[in-house]
Amino acid sequence: MGTTIPRNRCFSMRNTLTRAIVLTVAMLTIGGLVLRPDVDVRSALMKTATSAREAMSIQKPVSRPESAGWGGPAGGEAAGKQQEDVVEPAEDAQPTISNSSYAMTCDYDMERLRKWQEVYRLEETFEYTKRYVQASRQDIPRKSVTKLDQDFLVDAVKVVNVNNQYQPETCPEPLVVPVTKSPYPNTANASDFMFGVSTTYRRFSDIRTSPINEWSYWLTDGKGNSNGGKLVLLLLDATDDELEDAYTTLSNVGIDVDVYRSDASQIMAVRYLALAPTLYAHPERSTKKWLVVCDDDTFFPSFNGLAEKFAADYDHTMPMYIGTFSEDINNIERHGSQAFGGAGVFLSLPMAQIISENFESCRTEQKILEANTGWGPQGDILLRKCIYENSEVKLTLLNDLWQLDLFGDPSGFYEGGIKPLSLHHYRGGIWHIAHPWHYTKIAHACGEDCTFQRFQTADDFIISNGYSVAYYPYGVDFNLGQFEATFQPAPDNKGYNLDYMMGPQRQSLHRTGRKISWELLEADVNEDGTVSQVYICRREDPRWKNPDGSPMNNRDGIIELVWLPDNQ
Ligand SMILES: *[C@@H]1O[C@H](CO)[C@@H](O)[C@H](O)[C@H]1NC(C)=O
Ligand SMILES: *[C@@H]1O[C@H](CO)[C@@H](O)[C@H](O)[C@H]1NC(C)=O
Repeated sequence: MGTTIPRNRCFSMRNTLTRAIVLTVAMLTIGGLVLRPDVDVRSALMKTATSAREAMSIQKPVSRPESAGWGGPAGGEAAGKQQEDVVEPAEDAQPTISNSSYAMTCDYDMERLRKWQEVYRLEETFEYTKRYVQASRQDIPRKSVTKLDQDFLVDAVKVVNVNNQYQPETCPEPLVVPVTKSPYPNTANASDFMFGVSTTYRRFSDIRTSPINEWSYWLTDGKGNSNGGKLVLLLLDATDDELEDAYTTLSNVGIDVDVYRSDASQIMAVRYLALAPTLYAHPERSTKKWLVVCDDDTFFPSFNGLAEKFAADYDHTMPMYIGTFSEDINNIERHGSQAFGGAGVFLSLPMAQIISENFESCRTEQKILEANTGWGPQGDILLRKCIYENSEVKLTLLNDLWQLDLFGDPSGFYEGGIKPLSLHHYRGGIWHIAHPWHYTKIAHACGEDCTFQRFQTADDFIISNGYSVAYYPYGVDFNLGQFEATFQPAPDNKGYNLDYMMGPQRQSLHRTGRKISWELLEADVNEDGTVSQVYICRREDPRWKNPDGSPMNNRDGIIELVWLPDNQ
């Protein structure tokens, strides 16, 4: 469209007729929309709120207590075993020929190491471990934990200084991990779905909150082509230039998007409810089966899995209201039993029709009053009331969607071995910080099931793929079938708030000396199709302390995993 884009409210229509229709629809139905408050306590809490070729120094094997202690109990069983297994790098070590066709290089790319040291503010001297992992696709079901016979550490842990240069080394034999033949993200077909998201231009364009990368994961094939999913984006109070910028930016990465301006003349809860009739009124509705209302921080990590679930289990010709609860029972007691929107709310067309036809009566002053639980009128409640008071339909629970109303360290969730169908609340503020776009890069090399799948090595490391590599110096002597309670519910914590959705959680290993974890901060799909993951652990991380308060490791550390795809 280039320079001919008219300065109207909609920036994606391919011909004037549709544009006119949509424009009319937009004017009729769109109130302004902004981010809904996250139902529970957010609104309340927001207020408070070079040429020197010197040999690398080889650190002592991690199992020895004098190496900073993260090796575990001195003279303990794990330590003893580990020590025997440690292989000093031999001069005549031969490169291990992987039967994949990928070249493995274990050199020290100081440019990258320096970049990571700067970006992640590590000390100049830090541990660096690089390990290749060969995915082996097999006809097996996805396991929550897969035990491997191999050790994670084959050599002593290397210590590097960013100001030095190091000789390349022989790569150890890759870890070989059996995985399912799950589909790759670029094969997802989202044609049955149309998504409605409302946000502000400021959040859209701010590098800290911009959802563009995340959307490109689940709305494109990763190579600049739409996967059939339609995005209807509403930007509150945006200028024409801002609408155009949003449209251009998203189109350029391959997202099929319509961008509308919404104004602030309606209260937030009504603007939220209005998403349903807005999607229903869209000219492409008839090509869709599911209209999805979500937030700008809703992420779908496994779109093939999501689409399969909907195709297999849900009848789109019936009025259907599908979503999930808050994990926190306080939020159910406070706000009622309904879908919590950040996890994604899926409406069949007949359902959206009922909401559209009753929209006016669903947003009266009286209804807005009834949707106020003392925390301000809630959009989720308005939507539930609109459905429950105008139909026999009740919420269909899809527990694999996650609202993630959790405070604190989310690692216990991401290390749970599950395959979530949605994620939410990962942009910080009062909620947690996570990087789902980076976490899911692994799926491009290994298939969708690989994301967050756990691999436990013989030397007590657990790779929670894409999220962390954790070492348990005293062994894995706890129930991996339960989430680790590294997180807490919002106040009031009754001790069991999360149990009804997550099951009782096992106790946190923070500050016990029993766990130290390197967490993923970036990942890349390389040109050859391999995926590099960068996991970081900081010496000063308050979680990885011994009971006496001393750090489990005396150095910062980087673990780089390079995954080799299995091209069969
Ligand atoms: C590589 O070769 C080994 C031994 O022949 C075999 O067990 C394995 O399945 C092959 N493929 C991968 C991806 O490791
Ligand atoms: C995607 O799904 C749609 C609707 O189910 C179908 O018509 C289309 O052929 C599919 N596209 C591909 C590439 O499989």
